Amino acid sequence: MKKITIAIDGFSSSGKSTMAKQLARKIGYVYVDSGAMYRATTLYAIRNGMTSKERGVDTAALVAALPDIHISFIITPEETQHTLLNGEDVEKEIRGMEVSGWVSPVAVIPEVRHYLVKLQQQYGKDKGIVMDGRDIGTTVFPDAEMKVFVQASPEVRARRRYDELIEKGTPSDYEAVLANIKERDHIDTTRKESPLRKADDAFELDNDRLTREQQMDVLIKLFEEKTRG
Ligand code: CDP
Repeated sequence: MKKITIAIDGFSSSGKSTMAKQLARKIGYVYVDSGAMYRATTLYAIRNGMTSKERGVDTAALVAALPDIHISFIITPEETQHTLLNGEDVEKEIRGMEVSGWVSPVAVIPEVRHYLVKLQQQYGKDKGIVMDGRDIGTTVFPDAEMKVFVQASPEVRARRRYDELIEKGTPSDYEAVLANIKERDHIDTTRKESPLRKADDAFELDNDRLTREQQMDVLIKLFEEKTRG
């Protein structure tokens, strides 16, 4: 069967990562979480004093440091994917609210985007990949054979993210999570450089009311259609 590229884009906490991971596992493809790459870059900026309430992100310093930022992924013995920043497992830290609060301002910086998009394209050069994010079907892999755009309401998304944080043992406040999601939606859709939008040829999946199983059925059907012949 021919290998294809699968791009899954959508709003924050729309369930796209879970969906992309499950799909990749089922069809034996590599999964890459592009958001984790923006999050790890953001963590680097925070740790190195490049973010401040008064002045925002120190863009010049971060851009100069990009060659020192190495991001990779490992599969743990529990079979979950973890993100490494310069060799250190930062999976838990990049999901916290501090990184969530800074990641969208970091992701608007064109040089950061160019640096990470290049890396993402390298990951995908042999196809057989599922990548999720905001601009995968529009900018990273505009020629992807299968594109999915995931929709869900901000409240449903905030509830999911809140439950996820609590489950991971991170004390959280639902209203703060909802506010962060709305703010990131705004920044992500209005930024100049590759804003979040549905690619014209993407399949739209509204997952407010779909169970995981129903979602997977839809994706597998689509995958079979795209790889047939
Ligand atoms: O998991 P969640 O949906 O909250 O977000 P994520 O996929 O981890 O991405 C975190 C942030 O990175 C997003 O809010 C975007 O600002 C940015 N991002 C991006 O700009 N482009 C991507 N391809 C992926 C993420």
